[in-house]
Amino acid sequence: MSKHSLFAKKKIDASQFKNGLLERNLTAVGLTAMGVGAVVGAGIFITPGIIAAKYAGPGAMLSYLLAAVVCALAALCYSEFASTIPLAGSAYTYVYTVFGELVAWILGWALVSEYLFAVASVAVSWSAYFQNLMAGFGLHLPTALSAAWEPGKPAGVNLIAGIVVLIVGFLLSNGMRESTRINTIMVGVKIAVIVIFLGVAVFYVKPANFQPFLPYGASGVLSGAALAFYAYIGFDAVSTASEEVINPQRDMPIGIIASLLIASLLYAAVATVLVGVVHYTKLNVGDPVAFALQLMHQNWVAGIISLGAVAGMTTVLLVMTYGGTRLIFAMSRDGLLPAVFAKINPKTHVPVANTWIFAVVTSIVAALVPLDKIAELVNIGTLFAFATVSLGVIFLRRIPNYNELPQGFKVPLYPIVPILSCILCVLLMTQLQITTWIVFVIWLVIGLVIYFSYSYHHSQQRM
Ligand code: ALA
Repeated sequence: MSKHSLFAKKKIDASQFKNGLLERNLTAVGLTAMGVGAVVGAGIFITPGIIAAKYAGPGAMLSYLLAAVVCALAALCYSEFASTIPLAGSAYTYVYTVFGELVAWILGWALVSEYLFAVASVAVSWSAYFQNLMAGFGLHLPTALSAAWEPGKPAGVNLIAGIVVLIVGFLLSNGMRESTRINTIMVGVKIAVIVIFLGVAVFYVKPANFQPFLPYGASGVLSGAALAFYAYIGFDAVSTASEEVINPQRDMPIGIIASLLIASLLYAAVATVLVGVVHYTKLNVGDPVAFALQLMHQNWVAGIISLGAVAGMTTVLLVMTYGGTRLIFAMSRDGLLPAVFAKINPKTHVPVANTWIFAVVTSIVAALVPLDKIAELVNIGTLFAFATVSLGVIFLRRIPNYNELPQGFKVPLYPIVPILSCILCVLLMTQLQITTWIVFVIWLVIGLVIYFSYSYHHSQQRM
């Protein structure tokens, strides 16, 4: 490969999988908890009402199932990569090996947007639920500190959203053991809370509420799926942990697929029960689960749900911040970002400076930008990554030393599954708003400016 090639590919050999600086202490169960931790959060506590009211009607579960199918196909592709190339950096590293540096950079930069905006958007939802809980105790923040500024609204900054991200950064900078423990406990709490909701609400389901089942037709289900997709984002964060897993060939696919399966079951169940309890026309609210319980006069359960939502969203913040920092770690180790991002603290075995920089930047976005401006950006960056990874699997099996790499999980029905996965991701991308596309293109242009002014000249592949 020429010294100046933009498409220099990362050379991978099995010896690189052994001697990382990061500590290997994760198992399949830990990974699944991590996946469920990253996935189940704001999406299920906030979006199902809007999906039912505006897009899919009582058929909202179909939107969730369609989004689950898209994610499942992408998850299979991720699993093959993660078990063949168990290095930190996830999709970015995979694409570096098959499509070369420039495509890897573009994808890595898109993924930075996924993690950054996912954490920021979930922090804003966390703040809303937390302020609701506090209001229950008569505690209110001054308006200027309660939400980000928007035209026509008096508020200024979202103080709680900014602070919670910094607390998460603090936890992660102290090492993975503590964070994994907190994550596992909170994942248990959030699953318990969702099961309590289902157990209480199922007795209030009225079959008449399921009529008409698809008031906005199939296109409504499709638009709903583009929104429901947000709720599944995060299982890919599991694959950023490759270098911290004891047996990645076996455990990576289990962690990715099991977390997706658990999330799909929970979502389909919540969506079905929700529209069965409240007529879809009344569900255009930001806290549909608590709203349904209030309608049933189950206020004490509504309180528990809000607490569970806060716990649930905390794990999303933890794992997505973790994923973002490990991605940036990998990009820095390759020379594409400054070396400070790859510096590991010898005591805690985590990239401390990287974690703090990521937390501070994300905290600023969470404090200053309103939710609806950031949520769709998470989707577009992620769908772009899934589409590229799906295509990448087709080329992975053709790299010259493929047979020398660990032969772990293989995508079934190859190449149909990767091709279908790519097509479905692009289809969902077409459902996003034009403003989302414009901001995403601006984000990519900024990325290219950084690449050509810094990364290109510092890349390890070209040294
Ligand atoms: N899937 C994550 C959530 O719903 C982003 O909170």
